[in-house]
Amino acid sequence: MAQPSYVIDRMISAKSIAARIETLGREIETSFAGTEKLVVVGLLRGSFVFIADLVRELDLDVEVDFLEASSYGNSTQSSREVRILKDLRGQIGGRDVLVVEDIVDTGFTLHHVVGLLRSRQPRRLETIALLDKPSRREVDIRATWTGFEIPDEFVVGYGIDFAQRNRNLPYIGKVRFTEEEPAA
Ligand code: PRP
Ligand code: MN
Ligand code: MG
Repeated sequence: MAQPSYVIDRMISAKSIAARIETLGREIETSFAGTEKLVVVGLLRGSFVFIADLVRELDLDVEVDFLEASSYGNSTQSSREVRILKDLRGQIGGRDVLVVEDIVDTGFTLHHVVGLLRSRQPRRLETIALLDKPSRREVDIRATWTGFEIPDEFVVGYGIDFAQRNRNLPYIGKVRFTEEEPAA
């Protein structure tokens, strides 16, 4: 693949993200108050930064687990086929579960994962997405909690990649192509 030519414009600062996660943390604590233990499930790879910051805001008994789901690969287009590349380590039957996603775009990934996890009969299952792009939705699903609603821009950073790059940016940026978009 040819090296993509693009620049990244700042969209949501690290400070705004941290402030929003603090608020979300309080809401989640209240909602799950009295839980024996909350199983927080990060969807790899995109949510690894978000889940790390989020669990450190939660004054609850927490177990962290991961599930790897991929639908984009190195493309900018959803394949609409969600592949489970790594399943949970733990059991979730009868337990309180919070699924952590970095972004809900078409909705295929979260919809697929929620369907899979519900079939294991957790006591309660809720979802949180740092970003939501409602204008792109193809499957009717909404996270219980959303950090920020964003317009239809290709975003990177804070865990989110463009062809596996830029996940390490501490802020959310939007990709602006400076030449032709490379073929997927
Ligand atoms: C991205 C993102 C979400 C999903 C959202 O994951 O992290 O999981 O796509 O898109 P959707 O709502 O259209 O399904 P990706 O498949 O790129 O895998 P990654 O998390 O490993 O980057
Ligand atoms: Mn993902
Ligand atoms: Mg990706």
